[in-house]
Amino acid sequence: MKPRLLFATTNAGKLRELRGLVGDAVEVVSLEDVPPIPEPVEDGETFEANAEKKARAYAEASGLPSLADDSGLCVDALGGRPGVHSARYAEGGDQARYQKLLGELQGVPEEERSASFQCALCLAWPGGESRIEVGRCEGRILTGPRGSHGFGYDPVFFMPALGRTMAELTQEEKAAVSHRARAFQKMRPVLLALQATG
Ligand code: IMP
Repeated sequence: MKPRLLFATTNAGKLRELRGLVGDAVEVVSLEDVPPIPEPVEDGETFEANAEKKARAYAEASGLPSLADDSGLCVDALGGRPGVHSARYAEGGDQARYQKLLGELQGVPEEERSASFQCALCLAWPGGESRIEVGRCEGRILTGPRGSHGFGYDPVFFMPALGRTMAELTQEEKAAVSHRARAFQKMRPVLLALQATG
């Protein structure tokens, strides 16, 4: 029998990405496939702490090995902000948040606008064991938005290696280079090994 893994998300894109990564080896279910579980508060000071808190809570509640992620944008000139507060950095939508960021960086020269998207993934087993992997994507913050794909801070996050912003990449291109994709890739062998103990 295939092992079952709960991915603590309702985001269809993330679910698709994970299912693509583990193929037929593991049955990946989402929060929509299990009875309602109260959502843990993401009040950690690091992406790792938040991902672990979520994965542990869902593993204990569901009895299934559970995977959770936490991610955000860290801007060096702002001491790593917005970081774990990326989703709540400003009231309103994505545009309000990246505009606030551009405002805070007004006058900061190009060479000091380095930033990284970071993602922590935690796989927790019922009973306490857990494993964490992180992925990063390096870039810099432009002075204005470019591109219409993606979400969040993608339009202002420029990747010099590709010569484009994250929002100028197709979904497939982003899935190959993103912080989340890198963390998923690192976790892949652990997820595939679930089969042996399943
Ligand atoms: P979450 O970990 O999926 O909840 O993401 C937290 C927040 O970080 C999001 O609401 C976005 O503001 C930001 N973020 C995370 N990943 C990305 C990304 O791939 N592109 C743009 N913004 C992101």
